[in-house]
Amino acid sequence: MRAALSELKPSLIRQIHALKQPSSIDCSLGEPTLPIEPELWVRGLARYEREAKGYAPNLGLRELRDRIAKHHALPGRATGDNVIVTVGSEEALFLAFFTLLDMGDEVVIADPAYPAYAGLATMCGARAVRVPLRAPSYALCTDDVAAAVTDRTRLVVVSAPSNPFGRCDDQAELRALATLAGARGFYVLSDEIYKELYFGAAPPPSITQMSARTLLVSGLSKSCAMTGHRLGYLVAPAELVAAMWPVHQLTVTTTSTLAQQLAIEAFAEPRFLSAHREHYRRAWAQARAALDMYTIPYIEPEGAFYAMCPIVPEGVDAFDFCKRFLAAEDVVVVPGTAFGPGGARFVRLSFAGAEGDFVEATKRLAAFLTTSRSAS
Ligand SMILES: Cc1ncc(COP(=O)(O)O)c(C=O)c1O
Repeated sequence: MRAALSELKPSLIRQIHALKQPSSIDCSLGEPTLPIEPELWVRGLARYEREAKGYAPNLGLRELRDRIAKHHALPGRATGDNVIVTVGSEEALFLAFFTLLDMGDEVVIADPAYPAYAGLATMCGARAVRVPLRAPSYALCTDDVAAAVTDRTRLVVVSAPSNPFGRCDDQAELRALATLAGARGFYVLSDEIYKELYFGAAPPPSITQMSARTLLVSGLSKSCAMTGHRLGYLVAPAELVAAMWPVHQLTVTTTSTLAQQLAIEAFAEPRFLSAHREHYRRAWAQARAALDMYTIPYIEPEGAFYAMCPIVPEGVDAFDFCKRFLAAEDVVVVPGTAFGPGGARFVRLSFAGAEGDFVEATKRLAAFLTTSRSAS
């Protein structure tokens, strides 16, 4: 067996989720419970009925690649030749890491960050170097990244709104990072899977508009409630796309033709991409009201659908805390340590689930915290 694999385990998100009972309230996964927009579904199926149903070309249907390129309009990477359609954005992340990292190379990621970044680095025989996300912004600090960069740094990963904090990076910090990438010769991967789900007046700034040394990863899982369809994509310089093609072909051939036809319809009318934004704005308003009512502290997200709550007592392991909460109150939440040591004091609650679940989970969490405090 490959030596690097001995270091890989299923993420703590999946480990805690595996303990869920049929009766449990589930605030763990980032899994939308909304249906796909009915009009999008009807249009996608109609396209499927009238068009070819077999294998799509390796890199994706040409019409979809062109539409994705036009939608993002990245300077110097604005044609379909810059796009690979992938099996979820997870495969896009894999392609980027596998293509850019050699054994012993380094990738700089946030602490805490989406667990796949560190896992993929390990899988590629590379090393994830973590930079802390600090209060009050819990966003990228380019000085911290600069301090972490070495001659082995090939990639820096940013994401906004982020998972787990739902925070967005500052434009000036991203500009400084773009300059640093040019000076030190690394690429920046911008994971924009939650980009459509922002709560403020405007979308978060993207470093992909500021530098050509960037790769954009995204997909329709979260914005269009299409997790099961596995539709992701990557926009990158053409020479990287050319290098990724055989890797993508050898591992997955192509992604689902039906999913790609749905995606053509979604990109044809971007109102489909933003259709669920208001729903999550409202869901966060309700979630915040519940957290405030039960006086549970949280970091205010600027998008996505997670609340990070700093409630794990000093000296208590976050995974143990979540297991005890599940055993006592039958609610599944995610330990902050799933995202790195920087999450040790936090639990993450998803408010993407069924209406009412988050409020009930908050009520039970408050009861659990009261009982735990009086027992200690
Ligand atoms: C930050 C981030 N990136 C990527 C993904 C992968 O999403 P998918 O493979 O469904 O596109 C997720 C899923 O939770 C995520 O939170």
